[in-house]
Amino acid sequence: MRVVLGIETSCDETAAAVVDEDFNVVSSVIESSIDVHRPFGGVVPELAGRAHVSTIGPVIARALHEAGLDPRCPGIDAIAVTSGPGLIGSLLVGLSAAKALALAWDVPFVGVNHLEGHLFAPLLETKDLRWPLLTLLVSGGHSMIVLQRDALGHEVLGETIDDAAGEAYDKVARWLGLGYPGGPEIDRLAQAGDAEALKLPISMLGDTLDLSFSGLKTAVVRATETHPDVATNDVAASFQRALCEQLLRKVDQSLESHDVKGVALAGGVAANSALREGMKDLARRHALACYLPSRAMCTDNAAMIAAAGLARMKASGPSGFDLSAEPNWLLAQV
Ligand code: KG4
Ligand code: ZN
Repeated sequence: MRVVLGIETSCDETAAAVVDEDFNVVSSVIESSIDVHRPFGGVVPELAGRAHVSTIGPVIARALHEAGLDPRCPGIDAIAVTSGPGLIGSLLVGLSAAKALALAWDVPFVGVNHLEGHLFAPLLETKDLRWPLLTLLVSGGHSMIVLQRDALGHEVLGETIDDAAGEAYDKVARWLGLGYPGGPEIDRLAQAGDAEALKLPISMLGDTLDLSFSGLKTAVVRATETHPDVATNDVAASFQRALCEQLLRKVDQSLESHDVKGVALAGGVAANSALREGMKDLARRHALACYLPSRAMCTDNAAMIAAAGLARMKASGPSGFDLSAEPNWLLAQV
């Protein structure tokens, strides 16, 4: 196999990428419909689906063009497409496009789990990745600690029992009257804030490796109601410290019972500057390799889907044309 076209439409990003069999990213195009959703403070599923229908064709054509391929006859060897989890109307657009192109070009296609896709982000940028790895996968829809024995062998050690980390960022940002998505904005404000300004709880401190953010979110609301004079920068810094502290303590705790060669970050929240610094420190303390994908690879993109599809297809062959979208497809079921 030479080159794979990846397609990602699980949420609000329409993305296409060309990746070669050595996991080199030849092209990666991402078009977000975030501006359409911003006034609503969150992704509106129907609007996301409609946006994918308009953008999917041009985005795929651009990815092929930027890879130096002719969109009418690109010489692609296979297509990888996110088939779950995600918004059903959005997933169906990408999946239908993948099937249509697979038929037109007479090439195999494979459905990819979006979360497994995120786990491939470090591999796209570090060719000599050393397994096993402990990966913190934190996005707008999911938060979990994953033991990766190799590229396709993963075990979920713990996950959120309520909100995802990114969801907590977005909800707190909304409460503070900041824009959507809230993660990048809170991250930016926190740089100039005092993390000691508010005393916020660090949840889930027992033996479990599960995570929880809904109590922290409520604590921020209570604290800002009680202390309305605390500056937004300081609230952002205090919230970010409590959230990152929980994540890092749970990774630390996971390392006590799992012998690994490195730690990695994946998912949109992996773009967070405090979390990245915290992971570097933690890796240094444990003398482990630390894999932090670039911000562009952390958030939703199609290169990670192409990479996961490449590995899946090599291991278990292509999908059938009767493949359906799975909005609730768990990583543990892959
Ligand atoms: O992985 P992703 O692009 O989409 C999902 O699959 O969910 O993650 C999006 C999430 C959003 O909740 C966004 O607020 C968060 O990632 N995010 C961040 C940062 N950049 C994006 N959270 C904290 N700090 C950031 N710098
Ligand atoms: Zn994602």
